[in-house]
Amino acid sequence: MNEPMMKGVAPINTPSYVKHQKLIDWVAEISTLTQPDSVYWCDGSEEEYDRLCAKMVESGTLKKLNPAKRKNSYLACSDPSDVARVEDRTYICSANKEDAGPTNNWMNPAEMRATLQPLFAGCMKGRTLYVVPFSMGPLGSPIAHIGVELSDSPYVAINMRIMTRMGKGVFDVLGSDGPFVPCVHTVGKPLATGEKDIAWPCNSTKYIVHYPETREIWSYGSGYGGNALLGKKCFALRIASTMGRDQGWLAEHMLILGVTSPEGKKYHVAAAFPSACGKTNFAMLIPPQGFEGWKVTTIGDDIAWIKPRKDKSGKTKLFAINPEAGYFGVAPGTNTLTNANCMASLNENVIFTNVALTDDGDVWWEGMTVKAPDHLIDWQGKDWSPADGANGRKASHPNARFTVAATNNPVIDPEWNNPDGVAIDAFIFGGRRSTTVPLVTEARNWVEGVYMAATMGSETTAAAAGQQGIVRRDPFAMLPFTGYNMSDYFQHWLDMGKKLSAEGAKLPSIFCVNWFRKDEGGKFVWPGYGENMRVLAWMLERLDGKSNGQENIFGTTPSHADLNWSGLDFTAEQFNKVTSIDKAAWRDEMKLHDQLFEQLSYHLPKELVETKKSLEARLVG
Ligand code: OXD
Ligand code: MN
Repeated sequence: MNEPMMKGVAPINTPSYVKHQKLIDWVAEISTLTQPDSVYWCDGSEEEYDRLCAKMVESGTLKKLNPAKRKNSYLACSDPSDVARVEDRTYICSANKEDAGPTNNWMNPAEMRATLQPLFAGCMKGRTLYVVPFSMGPLGSPIAHIGVELSDSPYVAINMRIMTRMGKGVFDVLGSDGPFVPCVHTVGKPLATGEKDIAWPCNSTKYIVHYPETREIWSYGSGYGGNALLGKKCFALRIASTMGRDQGWLAEHMLILGVTSPEGKKYHVAAAFPSACGKTNFAMLIPPQGFEGWKVTTIGDDIAWIKPRKDKSGKTKLFAINPEAGYFGVAPGTNTLTNANCMASLNENVIFTNVALTDDGDVWWEGMTVKAPDHLIDWQGKDWSPADGANGRKASHPNARFTVAATNNPVIDPEWNNPDGVAIDAFIFGGRRSTTVPLVTEARNWVEGVYMAATMGSETTAAAAGQQGIVRRDPFAMLPFTGYNMSDYFQHWLDMGKKLSAEGAKLPSIFCVNWFRKDEGGKFVWPGYGENMRVLAWMLERLDGKSNGQENIFGTTPSHADLNWSGLDFTAEQFNKVTSIDKAAWRDEMKLHDQLFEQLSYHLPKELVETKKSLEARLVG
C-alpha cells in the first residue's frame, strides 16, 4: 500500500482488506491536508461502536443514560450555536450558476475550493480522522450507492453506524475500483498541543458544500445532524438528486409506507413533507378504531431513492428503497399518544441529542408527558423546573433529535431491507398550512400532480436555523435539498412521467394533503396522527376505483360521506372547515405561485405554466 511518509503526517494505517487504491490515495491526500494526529478506519462492528461511545463518555461529549431506563443509550448536548441545518451556509457549487438555480446558494467551484483550502488545512490537528465507509441502501442493491466520509468527529462515526450500512462490508461492494461519493467533514476546531478538547467542538464559520459535477461533499464547522452526517441530506438528497437527473431516477425527501388492506392487498406509498411536519408519525401510523384489519408498516421515514425497472410480469414500475438504515427524528412532541411505535423504538440503543436529562438518568422532552418532571437538567446543562417551562424556557431544544436503528421500529416493513425495493403505487405531497389548502386532493394526471408538488407551500419549522412559522414555497419538500436547478428538477419529474407512460407503465397517482388547517381560534381542526388513516384509505381505494370523489377546481376531493368515519365523531361541518376552498384565498395563493414561477422562470417547464392557466380559469366565477 502507498502510505504517505511525509514528516508530521500520520500514517493512514490502511487495513489489508481495503484494495481500492483511489480511495487509499484520497484518504492520504485529505490526511495530508487536514493533519490529524491519527487515522482510524471504521469497521462498523458493535465492539467499535461501544468503544467510541465509551471514549466520548470519558471526554464529556456523551452521557450514558441509566441502563435500567434506556439500555445502551446516550445523550449528547451540542453547542447552542450548532443545533440545526444551516441552509444559508449550504452551497451547490456547480460550474454554472444556472445549474444550481435561484433556490440554492452558489459559488464558483474554483472560488469555493480556494475559500475552503485554508480552512481545511490543519483543521484536524490534535484529533483522529475517522474513515467512515457507508452504503446508502442495502449493500449491493442495484438502487444503492456508496459513500465514504472522512470526519474528525467520533459522534459522526457512531451516528453514521446507525443511520447507514456502515463498515467493512462496504469495501467488498467497492472492490478495487468501484465508485463512491467522497465526503469530507470537520468540526473545524483543531487542538493545539496539550489543549483540552471541549464536549461539542464546532466553529462559528460553517460551510456545507456540494460539487455536483464531481459528486463531492465538503462540510466545515458543524457537528450537527444534516450538516455533519453527510450520507443523509448532502448525499442522499443533494448529490443523489443530481445523479438521478443524469441517470434517470429520483432521489426524494419522502417516507415510504407499506399499507395492507383487510383483504390482504399491499400498497406502497411514498410521501413528501417538509422537515418536522410529522413524517415520522405518518411513517409509523397506527390505524385508528374503525380500521381494524388495516396494517401500516415502515420502509423509510425521510428519504426515498426510486428507480424505474420492469417487474416480473415485464411491466415498468417505480421501485423505491429507503437509502438510510436509521431514523434521525425530532423528539419534541413525540409521545405514546402521538406515536406509540416511535416511543417503543426508543427504549434502547439510542443516541439522543439536545433533549433534557431527568434526575434518574433518563431523557425528557416537551410533549413527552403531560406533566413535566419537577426537575431536569436542560439541553444546555442548566437546572430546569416546570416554572421555567411556564416562562417559555424549553428543557429540550425544539429540534432535539434521536438517532435510532430502523430495526428498533416495531412496525418495520418486512421488505424494508429488500435490495430490489418496493413498487410505488402513490405519491403524497403535504405542507404545513393553517389556511387555504384542503385536507386532500387527488391530481387528475401526472402533470397536475407535478404542479401541485411544485407549488407546495409550508410554514417553516425548527429543523432549519432561522425564523419559524413563515409560509415559504417548498417544492416537493425539496427546497433545501435539490442539488440542481429547481426548474430542471420539475422537468425531470415531467420527463420521468412521459418516459414511463411511453413504456406502458401505470404511473403512481399523486395526492396533495394538509393535516394542519386551523380554525378561527387557531386550533387544529383535523385530529391528525392515526386518524390520517381515514384519508390514506380513501386514497388507496381511489387507486382501485373503490372510493368516490368529486372533481374540484384543483383535482378530485372526497365529500364527508366518502370517508370512513367509524370510530370518530367528525362532523360534516368540521370536515368542511378542513376541505373548503376559499376562492379569494386561492387567488392570493396563485399570486404566490406567480412569484415562484417568476423566480424559477429560467427553464420553467411550459406544462406547468399551462396547468396554472387552466387552474386559474377554473377559479374564475
Ligand atoms: C430532517 C430534515 O432532519 O428534514 O429530516 O430536516
Ligand atoms: Mn427530512
